[in-house]
Amino acid sequence: MSSRSQIAAHICVLQTPVAPLKGREKVLIQRTASREALAMAAARAGAPGGPWEQEEEGGRPLPKDGWYWSVTHDAHFVAAVVAQVPVGIDTEQITLRRREMIERILDGAERDLLEGNGEALAFTRGWCAKEAVLKATGIGIGGLSRCKIRGREGAELSLCLEGKDWRVIQKRKGKSLFAVTVDTPEVQYDWNETELAFDPWSEEECE
Ligand SMILES: CC(C)(COP(=O)(O)OP(=O)(O)OC[C@H]1O[C@@H](n2cnc3c(N)ncnc32)[C@H](O)[C@@H]1OP(=O)(O)O)[C@@H](O)C(=O)NCCC(=O)NCCS
Repeated sequence: MSSRSQIAAHICVLQTPVAPLKGREKVLIQRTASREALAMAAARAGAPGGPWEQEEEGGRPLPKDGWYWSVTHDAHFVAAVVAQVPVGIDTEQITLRRREMIERILDGAERDLLEGNGEALAFTRGWCAKEAVLKATGIGIGGLSRCKIRGREGAELSLCLEGKDWRVIQKRKGKSLFAVTVDTPEVQYDWNETELAFDPWSEEECE
């Protein structure tokens, strides 16, 4: 494995294929596309080819030959990240949510910290960042109440889960937000910017 100061995280974000499908079939299309993004990220990283396996129960990704991976998918985008340390990725749509949901996901201190982002962006940033950390640790959604946002600087948020700090970097494309976290203090992010032009980072709300 390369020295911790040289860790690179290879990220691939692709548009979800448009398909006139619903329910399970729609999710299957998204999952398949996310594995295509994973194969592309792995190829850029110089990681081995698939299959990339997951735990049968719960679906936690299993590292392969020292390479860790994470995928995310929704109706708009699919994304994957590959690195030689634990990684997590998530995508969410920047939308307004019900007050009860906001208060369930973010406590008062976290809402204060994200203030100035606009309600929809503030909530989505916090939620998406927490999901990325919960995925990098493998804990999953069950750890949500223990995962706390502690700091904010530009497109980065600092989070803490079970005494460990996580730095989360975020990007935007239209109404979609992406969050990536990598278990190393120094990381070089390799996004597929040539295939997907992300929006410049902005804390303005979407149109
Ligand atoms: C992981 C989790 C936070 C992601 O949820 P999400 O935002 O709905 O979905 P995303 O598209 O962003 O990510 C899905 C991917 O997360 C990965 N994943 C699942 N469980 C994971 C875990 N414990 N740790 C890391 N990654 C996990 C899988 O690769 C999954 O891809 P797949 O569905 O194509 O197999 C959530 O589904 C979870 O915690 N699952 C664990 C199982 C669980 O607790 N189920 C009950 C949910 S109420």
